[in-house]
Amino acid sequence: MQPGLAVVIVGNDSASQVYVANKEKACTELGMYSEKHALPEDTTEEELLALVDRLNNDPKIHGILVQLPLPKHLDDKLIINHILPEKDVDAFHPVNVGKIMIGDFDFVPCTPAGVMELIKESDVSVEGKECVVIGRSNIVGKPMSMLLLHQNGTVTICHSRTKDLKEVTKKADILVAAVGIPKFVKADMVKPGAVVIDVGMDRDENGKLCGDVDFAEVEPIAGAITPVPGGVGPMTIAMLMRNTLTAAKRAFGIND
Ligand code: GUN
Repeated sequence: MQPGLAVVIVGNDSASQVYVANKEKACTELGMYSEKHALPEDTTEEELLALVDRLNNDPKIHGILVQLPLPKHLDDKLIINHILPEKDVDAFHPVNVGKIMIGDFDFVPCTPAGVMELIKESDVSVEGKECVVIGRSNIVGKPMSMLLLHQNGTVTICHSRTKDLKEVTKKADILVAAVGIPKFVKADMVKPGAVVIDVGMDRDENGKLCGDVDFAEVEPIAGAITPVPGGVGPMTIAMLMRNTLTAAKRAFGIND
């Protein structure tokens, strides 16, 4: 009984290559079975759907992850909707998204799950706190907000059209930055003592990896802050492993 994860990557996006390599490495370290399917940029929708079908029906595979973004000619939604919900360890399938909404879920999307784990392990209570999430993506912002809400936080979602963003972020006891703009969150946007969680994976003006938060500016005033790299990123992979284990246990009929 070995948990198995299939990772599918299409094309040559360099960041995706690094993420996928890290996911494979984590599987190996934990003794999980892993398969990587690297497909060329010009893969057709039919070919990709056929591969997902094959993985859906493969008993060695308990989790299927199709790395996003896909090349432009492929429809993300169509492909994700084709993954069996019980193998959807990213929790991107509408069935799993809906389950998160109602607070009854098997899989939690890996990045928001990693953030919640960091909060828990740092003994930060969410209950009654002002939680502000900057970013409304389906992968991070929206599920992140739901998880904070399920823990009784008062949640505000900000985005590119938010007026007076600074006025909103300054009220946050827990601030999650998931905008994808390097060093976007400055010290004057943060309440002293706030918990600041940086989901960004950006490059600064010198091409160096950095987050959505200007760490050097914000760290002195934050109560707690996550670095990039080495903060949320490794947690995301850990949560993927946890979801794969959950999927495998369900497939093997193991309840605990
Ligand atoms: N691209 C960036 N983050 C993710 C993720 O968590 N899952 C998948 N499948 N693709 C991604």
